[in-house]
Amino acid sequence: MNSTKFFFFTSLLLIFLVILPSSLSVAIDAITPNQPLRDGNVLLSTTKIFALGFFSPGNSHNRFVGVWYNKIRIQTIVWTANRDNPIIPISGAGLLAVHGEHGGLVIYGKDQNNPLWSANVTVSSPNNYVIAKLLDTGNLVLLENYGSSQRVLWQGFDYPSDTVLPVMKIGLNRRSGLNTVLKSWKSHDDPRSGNFLHEIDPTGFPQVIMYNGRTKWFRAGPWTGKGLSGLPEIASNSYRSFVNNKDETYMMYTVPNGSVFTRGVVDESGTFQRFVWRDQENKWIEVSSNPSEWCDYHGQCGPNSNCDPYSNYNFSCLCLPGFEPKFPRDWSLRVGWGGCLRKSGVARVKVPDTSGARVNMSLSLKGCEQECRKNCSCTAYTSADEGDGGKGCVTWYGDLIDARTFSNVGQDLYVRVDAAALGRQRKNMCFMEDRIDLDDQSNINSELPFFDRTTIVAATGNFSVANKLGKGGFGSVYKGVLHNGKEVAVKRLSKHSGQGIEEFKNEVVIIAKLQHKNLVKIIGCCVEDEEKMLIYEYVPNKSLDSFFFGTSSYFFLF
Ligand SMILES: *[C@@H]1O[C@H](CO)[C@@H](O)[C@H](O)[C@H]1NC(C)=O
Ligand SMILES: *[C@@H]1O[C@H](CO)[C@@H](O)[C@H](O)[C@H]1NC(C)=O
Ligand SMILES: *[C@@H]1O[C@H](CO)[C@@H](O)[C@H](O)[C@H]1NC(C)=O
Ligand SMILES: *[C@@H]1O[C@H](CO)[C@@H](O)[C@H](O)[C@H]1NC(C)=O
Ligand SMILES: *[C@@H]1O[C@H](CO)[C@@H](O)[C@H](O)[C@H]1NC(C)=O
Ligand SMILES: *[C@@H]1O[C@H](CO)[C@@H](O)[C@H](O)[C@H]1NC(C)=O
Ligand SMILES: *[C@@H]1O[C@H](CO)[C@@H](O)[C@H](O)[C@H]1NC(C)=O
Repeated sequence: MNSTKFFFFTSLLLIFLVILPSSLSVAIDAITPNQPLRDGNVLLSTTKIFALGFFSPGNSHNRFVGVWYNKIRIQTIVWTANRDNPIIPISGAGLLAVHGEHGGLVIYGKDQNNPLWSANVTVSSPNNYVIAKLLDTGNLVLLENYGSSQRVLWQGFDYPSDTVLPVMKIGLNRRSGLNTVLKSWKSHDDPRSGNFLHEIDPTGFPQVIMYNGRTKWFRAGPWTGKGLSGLPEIASNSYRSFVNNKDETYMMYTVPNGSVFTRGVVDESGTFQRFVWRDQENKWIEVSSNPSEWCDYHGQCGPNSNCDPYSNYNFSCLCLPGFEPKFPRDWSLRVGWGGCLRKSGVARVKVPDTSGARVNMSLSLKGCEQECRKNCSCTAYTSADEGDGGKGCVTWYGDLIDARTFSNVGQDLYVRVDAAALGRQRKNMCFMEDRIDLDDQSNINSELPFFDRTTIVAATGNFSVANKLGKGGFGSVYKGVLHNGKEVAVKRLSKHSGQGIEEFKNEVVIIAKLQHKNLVKIIGCCVEDEEKMLIYEYVPNKSLDSFFFGTSSYFFLF
C-alpha cells in the first residue's frame, strides 16, 4: 500500500521532470521593459537562426547569458554577455532586462537592485521605448525608439568574446575609441577572459596580431590587398575585407550565403581556428588553424631573419641576405632568438612586423624605393596593397622582425643591402646587374645563389648521358647530386639556343615572377663564360616541362 503510493509519486515526479523544461521554456522575440528574459527562456533571432539565453559551460554551475545556434544540437556558444561576471548558482535565478535608466541592458542575479552586469548605455530619455532584439547574424542589439525613428544604442558585436562571426567588425573605431578584439576563454568550463587576445594593431601599418598576455604570439600580419600576409590560404567560402581610413581600421568577413554557418575562434591555447558547419555530417569542420607550424610563432628566429619551413637545412632560421647569425653557437644548436646582425630581397614572405613601419598609400613601388633610399635608417620596403599590380608603400626602419616564407604565395619584400656587404657576397651570387624593365612597373635587380661550374660538373657526372633527363628547345636537363646529397635538376642552355645573356636574364626574372604550385623551385644559377645553367630542385616524377618553366625562391635586392 505504501509502496504503491511511493511508486505513484515517483512516476508523477518523473513525468514532471521530463515535461518541466520544455513546458516552461518560453521563446520570445524581443526583450522589453515589461518582458525581461528569465533563466530557462530564450530570445530567438528573426528567423530563429540564433538563440540567446542562460547557459552553464562544460562542468561549470555558473550561469552566463550567451548566444548559440538555435538549430544546432551541439550547443555552440558564439557570444557571452557577462563572461567576467557569472551568475553563481546561490545568487538565485538570472534575469536579463532592459531599463531606461540603469545602463540600458542589465543582468541580475538574486539582488534585483545591483546588476551583475550592465551594457552601461545612457538612454537619452527614460520615456523612450527601449527593446533588445537578436538579429539573424547573432548580434544582440539594444534599440531605442523615439518618435517614429529607431536607433541602435548598443550591440553585442562590439563586444565579442572568443568568436568572430560573419559581418562582425574586428578593429578600431577612431570616432568612438572602441577597439573590438577577441579574447580566448580561460578554459572549456570558464568563459572568463583568458590569456590570448586577437586584435588589429593600428600602429604603423595595421596588422592582425595575437598576444599571449602582453607578448606577441602570432602575427596574421598586415592586409596585402588580397588577404593577410601571414594567412595566405583563404577559405573559399568566405570573403574577407579590410578597411583602413581616418575613422576606422577593421577587418570583416562575409559568406556569400548567409545560411552558411561559419565562425572563427581564439581557443584557450592560443590557436585561431575557423569552422564551417557541415549539415550532412552534423558537425563542425575545422577549415584552418593557426599558428600551425614552428615558423608561425612570433619572432622564432630573432631580428633580421626569415623563418623558412622549406629550408634545405635542418634549421628553419635563415638570416636575411647580407646578415649573419648574431650567436653562431646558438644558431648551430637551433636556437634562433638571437637573430642576425647586418653583414649587409626576399620573395614570397610574410612581411616583417609592421608596428614600427610607415605607410604612404600615394606612392608607387618605384616611389617607395626612392623613399627608402632617401633615409639611411630605412631597411626594407614593399607594396602596401598587392592588388591591382601594387599600390602604396610600406617602409621599415631598424630591425626586421618575424618574416617567414611560404611555399608559393606571399609578398615580395625589398631589403636594403649595403654595397660593401654586397661586394663580399657578390662572388657567391648570380647577380643580375643590369636593370630590366618589366611590365613598365618596376625595375628589379635579381640574384640567385651561384653555383660554380666545377660543382655542377661533379654533380652531373660531367653531364653524362645516364643523367640526362630530357631535351627541350633551349637545351638539355640533367639530374645531379650535390655534395650534401641534395638532388637537383640542371637546365644547361645550349650554346646554340639563340638565348643570349639578355634572354637568360629575362628568363630568370620571368621565372621569379611566376608563382604556381605545380612548378619546380629554382635554387640557383651558373654563368661561366659562354655557359649558362639554371639549377632546380629535383622533384621525382615531375614532368620535364616543369624544369623548363620553373618557379623560384628568390631574392630581390636594390
Ligand atoms: C560597465 O561599467 C562598470 C563600471 O565602470 C564596469 O566595471 C563594467 O565592466 C562595464 N560593463 C561593460 C559591459 O562594459
Ligand atoms: C543559400 O542556402 C539555402 C539553404 O541551403 C539555399 O536554399 C539557397 O538556394 C542558397 N542561396 C544561394 C544564393 O546560394
Ligand atoms: C640534421 O639533424 C639530424 C637529426 O637531428 C642529424 O642527425 C644531422 O646530422 C643533422 N644534419 C646537419 C647537416 O646538421
Ligand atoms: C606620401 O608621398 C607623397 C608623394 O611623395 C607626399 O607628397 C606625401 O607628403 C607623403 N605622405 C606622407 C604622410 O608622408
Ligand atoms: C629617417 O627615418 C627615421 C625613422 O622613421 C626618422 O626618425 C628620421 O628622422 C628619418 N630621417 C630623415 C633624414 O628623414
Ligand atoms: C667533361 O667532358 C668533356 C668533354 O666531354 C671533357 O673535355 C672534360 O675533360 C670532362 N671534364 C671532366 C672534369 O671530366
Ligand atoms: C614515382 O613513380 C614511381 C613509379 O611510377 C613510383 O613507384 C614512385 O612512388 C613515384 N614517386 C613519387 C615521389 O611520386
